[in-house]
Amino acid sequence: MKGIVLAGGLGTRLFPLTKITNKHLLPVYDKPMIYYPIQTLVDAGIREIMIVTGGNNAGDFLKLLGNGSEFGLKHLNFTYQSSEGGIAEAVGLCEYFSEGQKVVIILGDNILEKSIKDDVARFKKQKDGAMIFLKKVNNPGEYGIAEVKSGKVVNIIEKPKKPKSDLAVIGVYMYDNRVFEIVRTLKPSKRGELEITDVNNAYIGAGSMSYSILKGRWADAGESIDAYNDTINFVRKYRKNSRQSFGKFNGGG
Ligand code: DAU
Repeated sequence: MKGIVLAGGLGTRLFPLTKITNKHLLPVYDKPMIYYPIQTLVDAGIREIMIVTGGNNAGDFLKLLGNGSEFGLKHLNFTYQSSEGGIAEAVGLCEYFSEGQKVVIILGDNILEKSIKDDVARFKKQKDGAMIFLKKVNNPGEYGIAEVKSGKVVNIIEKPKKPKSDLAVIGVYMYDNRVFEIVRTLKPSKRGELEITDVNNAYIGAGSMSYSILKGRWADAGESIDAYNDTINFVRKYRKNSRQSFGKFNGGG
């Protein structure tokens, strides 16, 4: 199974912090933001990882991450998204890298407290289809929101005006290789992007979407300037209080 970290886009919600640099290079406590999603994949046992960058300072990712040795990796792959055509467009750039395998994708601004190792192992055993993670939130208008009926996700609406639940679809997605076919069928949304929510709804429509309720805290550090600052505070708090959280970043291993 291959891993993909998405770090394209313009990060306009964090302007002017992102005026001259890339959102995923901004500090979150004592590490650049992108370290956290990479570590989440590595902790889940993923060794082959593609970083999709774009926007400002794309070359700095190479300088910062090199061949991934800080994460115990032998090699890292990089690709460039030349427009901000959406999360699903960025996924589409990874077809060649995927070599027909399943993929686990994480958004470069999503920070998870706990390991997803067990869920990744569960998805490896799932014959085909997709798996997403859901988490209760207080501000459902800001995320993809899932409607769950009789233990199944029946629909996801991107940033709904009248949310049908408080279950956000977090930015970690596991797909079989059919995802690349699905991406090719997508049309840009009203905001001009190929939406990952449309990919997920395609799997739901095909009856092949499973889900897991995410354990531990989750932060979308790029959601707003307040979310960014809250994320820094929670990482700091956990690093000080727990030797179990955030993999090797807590100093406890
Ligand atoms: O964080 C979870 C949410 O992420 C989900 O609940 C939503 O369903 C999903 O659409 C997404 O919403 P956002 O509005 O937060 O996405 P955003 O535009 O901030 O992009 C998130 C990451 O995806 C960003 O850190 C980098 C990557 N990205 C985004 C775009 C638009 C790319 O690599 N390329 C892109 O063109």
